Amino acid sequence: MTILGNDDWWRDAVVYQVYPRSFADADGDGTGDLQGVRSRLPYLKALGVDAIWLSPFYTSPLADGGYDVADYRDVDPRFGSLGDFDQMIGDAHGLGIRVIVDLVPNHSSDAHPRFQAALAAGPGSPERDWYMFGEGLGESGELPPNDWESIFGGPAWTRLPDGQWYLHLFAPEQPDLNWENPEVRAEFRDILTFWLDRGVDGFRVDVAHGMIKAEGLPSVGRSSDEDGRQAEMLGDELVPYFDQDGVHDIYREWRPILDSYPGGRIGVAEAWVATPERLARYIGTEELHQAFNFDFMMADFHAKSFRTVIDRSLAEAELVGAPTTWVLSNHDKWRHVTRYGDGETGLRRARAATLLMLALPGSAYLYNGEELGLPEVLDLPDELREDPAFLRTGESRDGCRVPLPWGGTVTEGFRFGPTGAARPWLPQPASWELLTADAQEDAPDSTLNLYRTALRIRREHPALGGGQVKWLDSPEDVLVIAREPGLVVVVNISDSPVTPAEFGLTGEPLVSSGPLGADGSIPADTALWLAV
Ligand code: NOJ
Repeated sequence: MTILGNDDWWRDAVVYQVYPRSFADADGDGTGDLQGVRSRLPYLKALGVDAIWLSPFYTSPLADGGYDVADYRDVDPRFGSLGDFDQMIGDAHGLGIRVIVDLVPNHSSDAHPRFQAALAAGPGSPERDWYMFGEGLGESGELPPNDWESIFGGPAWTRLPDGQWYLHLFAPEQPDLNWENPEVRAEFRDILTFWLDRGVDGFRVDVAHGMIKAEGLPSVGRSSDEDGRQAEMLGDELVPYFDQDGVHDIYREWRPILDSYPGGRIGVAEAWVATPERLARYIGTEELHQAFNFDFMMADFHAKSFRTVIDRSLAEAELVGAPTTWVLSNHDKWRHVTRYGDGETGLRRARAATLLMLALPGSAYLYNGEELGLPEVLDLPDELREDPAFLRTGESRDGCRVPLPWGGTVTEGFRFGPTGAARPWLPQPASWELLTADAQEDAPDSTLNLYRTALRIRREHPALGGGQVKWLDSPEDVLVIAREPGLVVVVNISDSPVTPAEFGLTGEPLVSSGPLGADGSIPADTALWLAV
């Protein structure tokens, strides 16, 4: 059932993030599902990824796209069943693809039976002790217990008709669990075991720096009105609700559970903390294996930004004691084609940045659809946007969650589902006709084939996933990096073409992110892997 051996597989793995709702729809209801994932595993195998990470597919009202879980041990009927999960993971393992699932421990859905029981049982009951209920301030408790704000905007507390307040660091439909309650801890140990028994190779831990709150729930002392946001998207500074020391006890409880299974079962932290030193505390043989590094995703398309971020990420990885993770796109941020300028320029730059990323030591996380060069969909009608942050902040993450185009035309929903299927849950732009997987399949210069080629070369040169980064002399806006013996990456971020010979390099081009000049020159916004 599980792929045994090579416990260190994650160190240089290429992991493909599947957003199940938007990946592939097998049952034709307009929403992606696990059988859809299963049907596209051969595509992922041909793409050349080592693992997939599935965003939540658990029972959920989808108030936050599934990051509001109502049953941690079941599949939402819209996504299929546990039987479908078993078939999907069985096929994935059969193809040598590992499977990571998302674990959402900071909060559940308000539809979770435990939260419903807490509401029904009333103040002071053991049921309420599963969540963060509290009394309000002010003469009749009309003010929230403290000044904490939701990451999605607005107060982090909601008042109930019985007068008590409950905490939700995200949407009101996502009440925070009370991790001081040993029953909550036991529940999550059991949830880990449930999925490990079903063969999962690891967990991506959502808001891994959450869960434990500072004693007494002290106010932050500053509100959005005074100082931008109280905390950034997921907090990058010390606030009393993130990165508290007690959270490490939880990972120390989880690690022996992961280690008791064969084959290298891992935990990857989505942790936004103030310093690399604090991040390092999450990682190691007693806690989680790896943490996301979002700095690369945040960098502008500038040589200096990339160089700074790469150097810093590698230094941090050394401090943390685990290889870093590189990410350019995910379900929470604008797709990188659009971040880099959209249109042809954006795509050219995105392809160059991808080639840079895939030549760096560590693991790389791809987001479904980036291999097709999809842009962010910016013109979704407001009434179709579902991101809970949208109503509160005007910022929406829906544009990177539009269902994938597999083939055909927009009237066919780009074959997201079978013939005659309901329309995809978010509308796709007609212009994606040229970007479907089918349209790119046989086009040698397509983005899909660029990813396939780069991943094949990465497999043929396993040393590319590790080793050192050596910067070679170059003009300010050209990056030249020597990698494993014999491979040099050149990224031309200047306005005019450069030739490898200018840097004293001769060799065979292995792959480039766009066509090279007849003289072998590398045009602007283009990356090249050169065998030297
Ligand atoms: C991080 C997830 O990536 C994001 O999509 C979600 O909204 C929050 N955590 C809350 O679970």
